[in-house]
Amino acid sequence: MDPTKAKSDLNPDAFNDLARLVHTACGLKLVPEKIMMVQSRLRHRLRALDMSSFDAYVRLLCSPAGMDEKQHMISALTTNVSHFFREPHHFDVLTTAMRDEFRRRIYKKERIRIWSAGCSNGQEPYSIAMHLLGEIPGLADADFRILATDVDKRVIQFARRGQYALQQVSGIPEQHRRAFTHIDTADGQSVTIGAAVKSLISFQELNLISDWPMRHPFDAIFCRNVVIYFDAETQNRLWPRFANALRSDGFFFLGHSERVNAPDTFGFSSIGPTAYQRTGHSLPGFQKRGHLNGTA
Ligand SMILES: C[S@@+](CC[C@H](N)C(=O)[O-])C[C@H]1O[C@@H](n2cnc3c(N)ncnc32)[C@H](O)[C@@H]1O
Repeated sequence: MDPTKAKSDLNPDAFNDLARLVHTACGLKLVPEKIMMVQSRLRHRLRALDMSSFDAYVRLLCSPAGMDEKQHMISALTTNVSHFFREPHHFDVLTTAMRDEFRRRIYKKERIRIWSAGCSNGQEPYSIAMHLLGEIPGLADADFRILATDVDKRVIQFARRGQYALQQVSGIPEQHRRAFTHIDTADGQSVTIGAAVKSLISFQELNLISDWPMRHPFDAIFCRNVVIYFDAETQNRLWPRFANALRSDGFFFLGHSERVNAPDTFGFSSIGPTAYQRTGHSLPGFQKRGHLNGTA
């Protein structure tokens, strides 16, 4: 074996240390089969730090000097794939079930809050906003806000800009594209989300396995294609926290390959594929601690 290559490879011990670190930092479960993927996703970090071995990289992460690098590591290891109007049946469930309730709240000037937890580059919260603005008259002038959070600082910065390449916006229905976005005149190759939509969304960094600094319950939470990367224990710790972060009868949506097993034990009833509704009493796990920019 080439000795230089062996030195720069991620060996099983270093991989295990890294997997423990990542699990503690953000809940991601790295199974040994992912060793090659982890290695290739982190190689650019070694280059950026001018390090020649993964052993040295893991030592840095385990030391107090590695605090900043942890954020880069999380960014490199999380999967940020998303697109506009992904799994749109969830938006329909929400509008069909909540249309009358939203109208009543708008009329009474009461708050309506939605959380996109694990929002990646912003396509999910922007899609929710465009869909609801198109479906519910008067929503634009109501006390309606979306909190959009992600553990990855880089995607939050991208999402705040709200600027996407033309091919990325192909999933936005034509009428929404005309109403809520504009083509950037400078290059003609990118599209920016309009101010009317942007102003409804607050993008914030938030690690789902840490404390949640929200004050008020949400009408709906979208946490789609996020927990699939967590182990069952981490998921089971999150379910009651999500349930308690919802108002009674609030909605909870997961991605197409995610499930809450035995939803009733966690405060949910299943209302369709990957769609749940909060039931009854609150459960231990959600602490109301403060607020997140008045969004929640
Ligand atoms: C595949 S994307 C899903 C984006 C969007 N929800 C969708 O369905 O298109 C998963 C996102 O979850 C985020 N994520 C992973 N672990 C997280 C954690 N512990 N806290 C918050 N976000 C996390 C990742 O950074 C990534 O942006």
